Amino acid sequence: MLKGKFEINLDFFKLKSPSLIGVDISSSSVKMVELSMVGKGNQSYRIERYVIESMPVDAMLDGAIVDLEAVSECLQRGWKRMGTRQRNVALALPATDVITKKIFVPAGQREDDLAYQVETEASQYIPFSLDEIDLDFQVIRPVPENPEEVEVLIAASRKEKVEDRVAVALSAGLKAAVMDVEPYAAQAAFELTLSQLPEGGKDKVVALVDIGATIMKINVLHNGESVYTRDQPFGGNQLTQEIHNQFNLSSEESEIAKRSGNLPENYKTDVLQPFCETLAIEVMRAIQFFYTSTQYTEVHYIFIAGGCAVIPGLNEIIASRTQVSTLIVNSFSNMELSSRIIPRQLNLDAPALLIACGLALRSFDPS
Ligand SMILES: Nc1ncnc2c1ncn2[C@@H]1O[C@H](COP(=O)(O)OP(=O)(O)OP(=O)(O)O)[C@@H](O)[C@H]1O
Ligand SMILES: [Mg+2]
Repeated sequence: MLKGKFEINLDFFKLKSPSLIGVDISSSSVKMVELSMVGKGNQSYRIERYVIESMPVDAMLDGAIVDLEAVSECLQRGWKRMGTRQRNVALALPATDVITKKIFVPAGQREDDLAYQVETEASQYIPFSLDEIDLDFQVIRPVPENPEEVEVLIAASRKEKVEDRVAVALSAGLKAAVMDVEPYAAQAAFELTLSQLPEGGKDKVVALVDIGATIMKINVLHNGESVYTRDQPFGGNQLTQEIHNQFNLSSEESEIAKRSGNLPENYKTDVLQPFCETLAIEVMRAIQFFYTSTQYTEVHYIFIAGGCAVIPGLNEIIASRTQVSTLIVNSFSNMELSSRIIPRQLNLDAPALLIACGLALRSFDPS
C-alpha cells in the first residue's frame, strides 16, 4: 500500500545501500551494475539495476579509449537508462594497461616506509619514470615460510590510461571513486559463482574463459588464486563479420540478426557451427598451453563468460572438445532480484556483466 502510493522502497533489512555503480567500459558496450546488500550477518546481495549500452564502432580499440567524446556520451546514455541517482562509479583498466608484481618486504613496517620501499622496487622494473605512472600496492598476506615478511602486490599504470577513464566518467557527470583492474574485478564476481560447485570448488582447477567481442581472455584459478592467464585475439566480432560476408547484411544488421537468430536455414551449419568449433579449438589450445607452462595436469571445470557465452550449444561444443565440464557464468544466481529486473533477460546478460558485477561489489569494501 505505502509502497505503491509513495514509491517508498520498503526494506527494513537492508544493511547497506549501494555507494557506487560498477562500470565496465569495453569494446562493444558500456555495462553498468548496481547492487545492494541484504539480510543480516551472512553477505547476500541484490541486483538493483543494470544496463548494457552499445558502444559506437571505433570508439574503443583493444580495450583502449580512442574517442573520448563518443565513450563519454555512451556512458551518459547508459547512466540515464539505469534510472539511478548514484553518480559514484568503480571503473577498471584492462590487464594490458597494468603492470603487476609481487614483492616480499619485512612485516610490520609503517605505511610511509612501505610506500617508499614499493616506489624503490617499482622503479627497478617499470619501464617508465615514476612521475609518468600511477602506483598502488596492497599487503596480501604473511609469507608462509617466513613470518618475518609479507607479500605485497604492486600495480602500476601509465597516468594517461587512468586519466582517460576518469575523464570520460567526469564528462558524463560521473565520479570515478575506484579504479580496479579488469581480471581482479572479474575474479571477485566469479567467486560468487563458485559456490555452485561442491565445496565451493575447493582444490579444483577452474578455467574462466571470457569471450567478448574482440578478445578471448583465459584465467585459470586454483583455490582463489590466478595461476595462469592468456589473451587471444578472437571473439564475437568474427561471427558478426562472417554473417556480414555471407548474407549481404550491414554490420549493424548482422549484429542484430546474430542475437535474434533470425537468419537463413544454412546459418547454423555453414556459419555458426564452424565458428563454435574454432572457438572450442582455441579454448583447447589455451588449456594445452596452460599444461605445458605450469605443473598442472588437469582442469576440472571451464566457466564461460562474456557476450558469446550465451550462443546456443557453445558450452556443449567446448565440453566435448576439451572433455571438461563446461558451465556458463552467472554471478547473480544466488542474488535477490529487484522487481525491475527481468529474470530471463538477466540470465542472457549475466555472462557479459561479470566485470561490471565485480566492480559493483566494491560498494561493500570495508571502509
Ligand atoms: N545473444 C547473443 N548471441 C550471440 N552473440 C552475442 C549475444 N549477445 C552478445 N553477443 C556477442 O558478444 C559479444 C560482446 O560480448 P562482451 O560484451 O562480453 O564483449 P566486450 O566486453 O565488449 O568485448 P571485449 O571483452 O572483447 O573487449 C559481441 O560480439 C556480441 O555480438
Ligand atoms: Mg569484455
